Amino acid sequence: MVPRSLKGCSLLTLEELSSAEIEYLIDRALDLKRLKRERVFAHNLRDRNICLVFLKPSTRTRAAFFVAASDEGASVEFFEEKDLRFGIKESVKDIARVLGRMFDGIAFRGFDHGVVEELAKYAGVPVWNALSDDHHPTQVLADMMTLKEEFGTVSGLRLAYVGDGRNNMGRSLMIASCKMGLDLRIVAPKPLQPATESVLQYLNCRAHPGGNVNVTDDVAAGVSGCDAVYGDIWLSMGEEHLVAERIPMLRHYKIDSEVLKKTNRSGSIFLHCLPSLHNHETLFAREHPDAIDTSEDLFEGQNSHVFDQAENRMHIIKALMVATI
Ligand code: CP
Ligand code: NVA
Repeated sequence: MVPRSLKGCSLLTLEELSSAEIEYLIDRALDLKRLKRERVFAHNLRDRNICLVFLKPSTRTRAAFFVAASDEGASVEFFEEKDLRFGIKESVKDIARVLGRMFDGIAFRGFDHGVVEELAKYAGVPVWNALSDDHHPTQVLADMMTLKEEFGTVSGLRLAYVGDGRNNMGRSLMIASCKMGLDLRIVAPKPLQPATESVLQYLNCRAHPGGNVNVTDDVAAGVSGCDAVYGDIWLSMGEEHLVAERIPMLRHYKIDSEVLKKTNRSGSIFLHCLPSLHNHETLFAREHPDAIDTSEDLFEGQNSHVFDQAENRMHIIKALMVATI
């Protein structure tokens, strides 16, 4: 049974979901994944219309919403910046009310987190944050699902997030850890560590007694004892111009097999939200070879679960849309 509280609910940060609702979504997504393997589709969103509004590029998230909606029988329309001109040609409030009159749910990817909040306030239908500068909740739901698949549980696991600790991934992982009982270490150089007040804010309202967040700039200490080491690209979308200052900060935070060994756990795994710079096959990596965030051998090795995470985006987004519409 879908918890009644999820019906009509928007997902902006993960703070709006209880631990039980997150558990429900993970279990439902695992069911939907199994059913898709068996080519069984319930078409729970038949005759529904889903709107995707993406002001930043996307591979995984856009594909995940599109395929999940199609599998469930919904139709999908995609808008980019030039179509809607948020806040330039028309106010967010007016666009929200127009889209809400026509669509049953809206996935939105943008910059300032306040825009997705305003969209959700006025749309009158569920709005799912497909990434803002501050939060990336559907990614972290997929990550929790991947951990449960691999370890059978989420609570009690230790996870180290290595890289830019102040960004959307760091923040969403902190919230999820406090809800789900993960012991999270944010491993980042001092200038890229989350503000103490925001860590305390999440810890003070932690819903699970096992949830914890520690922040360190020491890679070996941070990953020690961890079940999983998690990476992100060093320059988030919109930050590419900061490359010259960011690389020296993160030079010692590249994740490789030696870092995974420092967990001292034989079954520890590597996770990454992607995209990742792990070789020189992309233009950005050729232009900035020092921005490689992950070694190629770790990325391609057997401890890497990055494509499970990517696939799970689709299953968890499907569970989210079905539960909230
Ligand atoms: N991880 C993630 O959100 O990927 P995209 O930017 O490709 O959607
Ligand atoms: N921090 C990254 C996450 C990409 C999925 C970004 O915002 O670009």
